[in-house]
Amino acid sequence: MITTQEITQIREQVRTWHTKGETVAFVPTMGNLHLGHITLIKEAVKRADHVVASIFVNPMQFGQNEDLDAYPRTLAADQQALAEAGADLLFTPTPEIIYPKGMDQQTFIEVPEISNQLCGASRPGHFRGVATIVCKLFNIVQPDVALFGRKDYQQLLVIKTMVEDLSMPIDIIGVETIREDSGLAMSSRNGYLSQSQKDQAARLKQVIDAMSASIKQGAKIEETIEAATAELVQAGFSPDYLEVRSARDLSKVTAGHDKLVILAAAYMGTTRLIDNLSFER
Ligand code: PAF
Repeated sequence: MITTQEITQIREQVRTWHTKGETVAFVPTMGNLHLGHITLIKEAVKRADHVVASIFVNPMQFGQNEDLDAYPRTLAADQQALAEAGADLLFTPTPEIIYPKGMDQQTFIEVPEISNQLCGASRPGHFRGVATIVCKLFNIVQPDVALFGRKDYQQLLVIKTMVEDLSMPIDIIGVETIREDSGLAMSSRNGYLSQSQKDQAARLKQVIDAMSASIKQGAKIEETIEAATAELVQAGFSPDYLEVRSARDLSKVTAGHDKLVILAAAYMGTTRLIDNLSFER
């Protein structure tokens, strides 16, 4: 696997592959890779002739009081895991390469509506940062297909919407969440949790599963959310939001909606965890 910080090297390599009629899959990451990311790479291997990954801790998607500086950086281990999983090319730019004029002077992508609710309400500007970096990486890599984890459900919808609205010729694939044996969704942020917090955090998935079972049996959504929020608090969480929305576009549920998604964000100590479950009622 070749690792490079050079945009020109990425472009030349991908152009060489495309000229031969070979396809390229792309997996953008912020590094500190876990089994969830490796699953994305393995899925990418199945879907294209070549796999490009990127590692870039994107400052534009972090708020002022968030964990940008503390975000774990583990390049050597990440390179080894990516190579073993079958990636061919790794892009590891610096902030200066990506934002040479600084972030204030940077053109940005804003996906309306969907970006300003749920995680976007708690983290203003977050999805603008995500959409901007993903658009920029897409323009550098020019992949045929790109893969993202379904754990970041809202992020996946923001990216799908951007690709559709801007007519980008890229297939966006959402890959199933990979979980610890306890059910806890894998995340780089789980590394901030103590063992006892990890044990407690496993309740999040159980609470969401129970919510979907109740709603399928006809329970009222608002009452289900209220009871589940109390259970999260009981389990040691400080819930940020717990919502049931249309799985298609995250709009509020109406009688006509059958495909639903439960979305949760909750703090365990100072660590903000998210999870979701889509289901049909
Ligand atoms: O999901 C992530 O790791 C990031 O939000 C992404 C998509 C790599 C953009 O920085």
